[in-house]
Amino acid sequence: MNSKIRVFSGLRPTGRMHLGNYLGAIMNWVKMQETHDCIYSVVDYHAITTPFKPEELRRDTRDMLVDLLATGLDPEKCALVVQSELPQHTELAWILGSITPLGWLERVPTYKEKASMHPDYLNLGLLSYPVLMASDILVYRAEAVPVGEDQLPHLELTREIVRRFNHWFGDTFPEPEAIMKKETARIMSLKEPEKKMSKSLGEDSYIGIGDDPETIHAKIKRAVTDMGPDSTAMGPGVANLFNLLQIFGQEADYLTLYEDYETGSLRYVDLKTVTADAIIEGLRPIREKRKEIKSNPEILENALQLGHEKASAMATKTLSRVKERIGVGRDVNI
Ligand code: TRP
Repeated sequence: MNSKIRVFSGLRPTGRMHLGNYLGAIMNWVKMQETHDCIYSVVDYHAITTPFKPEELRRDTRDMLVDLLATGLDPEKCALVVQSELPQHTELAWILGSITPLGWLERVPTYKEKASMHPDYLNLGLLSYPVLMASDILVYRAEAVPVGEDQLPHLELTREIVRRFNHWFGDTFPEPEAIMKKETARIMSLKEPEKKMSKSLGEDSYIGIGDDPETIHAKIKRAVTDMGPDSTAMGPGVANLFNLLQIFGQEADYLTLYEDYETGSLRYVDLKTVTADAIIEGLRPIREKRKEIKSNPEILENALQLGHEKASAMATKTLSRVKERIGVGRDVNI
């Protein structure tokens, strides 16, 4: 256990998990729990930095947790936690925030982007989002962080904070490395296939990992198959369907349909039917596990309890070391 590399990653509670999250990130989380010492968190305090509704946030957090267990996170192998349930995350964020220059935060691209998206919702939390993220990672002294490309500036900031902390107060944190997944499974929106699959593009644009077979058929049927701007190349919507078929389907089906495409005889309705069937079959174990968890809420409760115990012990140790280094608290040796 101790010789394994420690890994932390966080997921914002956006509700139901979709194929993009699953194939792009979570499948890898599930694999890594076999080889690394992993802590995974649903980061609900990050969710309140942009406009939100309390009742939706709590439901989304729970849905995400259920989906994480359903896709194969094993509470015996990793620690699954809810960020807001471990006050050490926010406590360390205060400390790290006090050594982070404002200039570092103001130039983070996601801050600028979100600030322009919600100009009436500019708050300190949004600016210090990357500090809380640094704290999520560092409170466990994690050495590696599986993230998507969009998160690299945040991770670089984390490393800068580590260097400054270690320089000022002595070696305390390892500099965490990004683990970038290979871009083999970039799943696009079904409706706007030049954009990444995302819940924010509308119901019909994504397939939830818990969607029932009828819904999956209906959504795939409505998927866009237009040509791209270059009409000699395969349109991005068609390419996305082929990509999904390659991931979930039988190789023989993929090859036959691809040949049809190349000879100009492909009927999109066939591609859609076969792809939808393949996805439905591929997601069957996850659908069944979800049902089981939903009818036995103690599965989730037990997983979180176990995760909390493991994570809390690590986080408390880090904080007492950090506090000693920076000289807060009273001197117990007098
Ligand atoms: N900011 C990440 C995202 O939007 C989520 C996140 C929060 C995270 N804390 C983290 C990811 C720590 C990795 C490590 O996807």
